[in-house]
Amino acid sequence: MNQVTIQWDAVIALYILFSWCHGGITNINCSGHIWVEPATIFKMGMNISIYCQAAIKNCQPRKLHFYKNGIKERFQITRINKTTARLWYKNFLEPHASMYCTAECPKHFQETLICGKDISSGYPPDIPDEVTCVIYEYSGNMTCTWNAGKLTYIDTKYVVHVKSLETEEEQQYLTSSYINISTDSLQGGKKYLVWVQAANALGMEESKQLQIHLDDIVIPSAAVISRAETINATVPKTIIYWDSQTTIEKVSCEMRYKATTNQTWND
Ligand SMILES: *[C@@H]1O[C@H](CO)[C@@H](O)[C@H](O)[C@H]1NC(C)=O
Ligand SMILES: *[C@@H]1O[C@H](CO)[C@@H](O)[C@H](O)[C@H]1NC(C)=O
Ligand SMILES: *[C@@H]1O[C@H](CO)[C@@H](O)[C@H](O)[C@H]1NC(C)=O
Ligand SMILES: *[C@@H]1O[C@H](CO)[C@@H](O)[C@H](O)[C@H]1NC(C)=O
Ligand SMILES: *[C@@H]1O[C@H](CO)[C@@H](O)[C@H](O)[C@H]1NC(C)=O
Ligand SMILES: *[C@@H]1O[C@H](CO)[C@@H](O)[C@H](O)[C@H]1NC(C)=O
Ligand SMILES: *[C@@H]1O[C@H](CO)[C@@H](O)[C@H](O)[C@H]1NC(C)=O
Repeated sequence: MNQVTIQWDAVIALYILFSWCHGGITNINCSGHIWVEPATIFKMGMNISIYCQAAIKNCQPRKLHFYKNGIKERFQITRINKTTARLWYKNFLEPHASMYCTAECPKHFQETLICGKDISSGYPPDIPDEVTCVIYEYSGNMTCTWNAGKLTYIDTKYVVHVKSLETEEEQQYLTSSYINISTDSLQGGKKYLVWVQAANALGMEESKQLQIHLDDIVIPSAAVISRAETINATVPKTIIYWDSQTTIEKVSCEMRYKATTNQTWND
């Protein structure tokens, strides 16, 4: 017999135990079935229905109960037929919730666990924009970033496409935020097209294509100030010495200074 009969505070303990040990309520042995309409992952703010169907040996449930995050729901429950009940939520806004349902069986003092499910709500990804790729000098990496737009609340993956304009070869990199691409792997010449695809359970979007030339995206490494010297003259003078760390030609340096007593920088 695969059913679990427990008191309802024990049900909470069991729910927490299973959530922590197995990363979700879906790992419990079910004596029935729980499902969500329109889907387990849905758009935030939708109206949803959660159905619970009991299949417990020798039990015609007197009552079916729903729990959200271990707390019993008291409203918007409709009994559909002998085995099934429905819980309705209007405008559901929580990004994550763990649901389970139980049955009251005749001659059983305690509720019997039927099944559980983790549900999530969120948004489809926005179109990734402001795709930018830079090579920090000496890093050996091309770092590509983009503006992902509004928070989706659900697992969203990004695929960075890098296509050589010379060889037409395309490489794809899967990531959950930005990506570092080793410059050694960019063997298809200097010119590339880069674009980013965003996808989650609720949708998929693709950015515009960015054309890059590897020589134009290098960010020179910062100069290091080695010495500052103040000369006593009629007009006091300060000389700043720096070591340029870059091998890139035609780089100019800018200097800003400010008095420690004044918040304004001077260029
Ligand atoms: C769930 O069912 C499996 C197979 O029937 C069994 O091995 C396992 O012990 C059960 N787990 C619980 C928590 O009842
Ligand atoms: C949710 O249900 C309410 C009441 O039945 C309705 O007014 C509203 O339009 C529904 N919302 C959505 C997103 O379907
Ligand atoms: C009870 O209703 C559910 C949901 O509509 C359905 O799947 C199931 O077959 C019904 N069961 C019986 C015994 O009518
Ligand atoms: C380049 O990227 C790789 C992979 O993301 C990372 O392990 C490495 O530390 C990066 N190199 C530098 C110099 O930041
Ligand atoms: C990616 O590269 C940048 C610059 O080289 C470095 O600062 C960063 O730590 C790297 N990130 C990862 C995840 O390796
Ligand atoms: C600059 O002149 C002032 C006053 O004459 C003196 O106190 C100070 O030590 C001098 N500073 C340097 C760096 O020579
Ligand atoms: C700070 O510097 C700015 C620009 O040099 C100047 O206009 C301003 O009066 C200074 N403020 C103070 C509090 O010295």
